[in-house]
Amino acid sequence: MTSSNPIAGSPNRLKLGVFGLNVSSGCAMTSAPDTLKIEWDESVRIARAAEAAGIEALVPVARWRGFGGVTNFNHRSFETLTWAAGLAAATERIGIFATVHVPTVRPVRAAKEIATIDHISRGRFALNIVAGWNEPEIRMFGVSQREHDQRYAYADEFTTLLKRLWTENGFDFSGDFFKVPGAYSEPKPVQRPWPLIMSAGNSPAGRDFAARHADLNFALGPDLTTLAATCADIKRLARERYGRALSVFTMGYVVCRETEREALRYRDYYVKEKGDFAAAHNLLDVDSQFAERAWRSIQGDDRKLHRWLLRLAPGRNARAGGRRNDRDGARRIRRPHTQLGRLRRGYRAVSRPASPAAHPGRPARRVETLAGAGDLLVHADADAKTLRWATSFAHTQRKQIVYRLT
Ligand SMILES: Cc1cc2nc3c(=O)[nH]c(=O)nc-3n(C[C@H](O)[C@H](O)[C@H](O)COP(=O)(O)O)c2cc1C
Repeated sequence: MTSSNPIAGSPNRLKLGVFGLNVSSGCAMTSAPDTLKIEWDESVRIARAAEAAGIEALVPVARWRGFGGVTNFNHRSFETLTWAAGLAAATERIGIFATVHVPTVRPVRAAKEIATIDHISRGRFALNIVAGWNEPEIRMFGVSQREHDQRYAYADEFTTLLKRLWTENGFDFSGDFFKVPGAYSEPKPVQRPWPLIMSAGNSPAGRDFAARHADLNFALGPDLTTLAATCADIKRLARERYGRALSVFTMGYVVCRETEREALRYRDYYVKEKGDFAAAHNLLDVDSQFAERAWRSIQGDDRKLHRWLLRLAPGRNARAGGRRNDRDGARRIRRPHTQLGRLRRGYRAVSRPASPAAHPGRPARRVETLAGAGDLLVHADADAKTLRWATSFAHTQRKQIVYRLT
């Protein structure tokens, strides 16, 4: 890492960033007023305020369409490379990231765009590489999402080529995914050998990619103990497998009011009263691992489970009824009352006996298929293994999960 970048050069041990300020609603899935609008003046105002406050980085989200719900969460977003270039010119000290989906750009173009922004910012640029995660948006580029680990193989070759373009000229590159005869890119970035790199993978393949290529990895966890273990694991992997030092970033929400009581009251308002639960559900639905983590976090907590059940209420959620894709690609309720009514009245459920041979690890009882609906029904007291299995099964089979309180 070079010291021109505030993430590397800041004397603060704990570096701070502002995340998601280029997407509508930011990271708050709420219909409460006064969330981000995504106007250029707004981005400049926030960037300068963050810089004045001594915050080290601005981290945008790469998003190409919304997640549905009443807010169509994140549907409006500034493209992150051009956004970073503009903010690089409008600020002086703060580090500026762009988030790049590797399937959406060619490496030769990306290498030059990034070098250009590094010059505009005088070495304050940082790249967040994401392998592609939300299939409907990747499909908009006329490419289909690769199988999970293949995405990281592609990202690995992409990043290897980027690094060579930032340090060499006149070489022939021939990989599994890219062929570049006479590769050339000038000027080279200001930061040597290349700008700071971050990634956000959490799976084994994602962590391996981070360990190989990144300076920073985003780590997520349901609580601080688990998160601490995850961070240690990510760092250990980089050290042991590649002899590299990797730092970690994680995420927290700040609700700021004059007093703690006011802050808690406002949090209740924007989450409980105004929360866009349909959008939250759609987002969790994108990736079974995200969903799995969410289900796991519910384990043993009745209040959390009730909140999730509330999202199954007619009119509030996109998962309770049959699915169809609307024009935005968001899943909408076709007949929410049908299954919900069944659920509430003690529907006719068909218990499927376990078939361990067909589905190793499938638990014996607990998971049933709703008659006619083809959806999975999971008992509220299901154990963690059952939930994990049901979640991944539901995703691979494109089925829905509903819970039954027993
Ligand atoms: C904090 C954070 C930010 C992320 N930002 C983006 C993003 O802007 N665009 C995107 O498509 N994916 C984003 N992701 C998704 C990751 O790139 C990745 O697909 C996801 O964490 C799953 O990792 P895995 O594929 O290794 O399991 C983000 C993930 C995290 C944790």
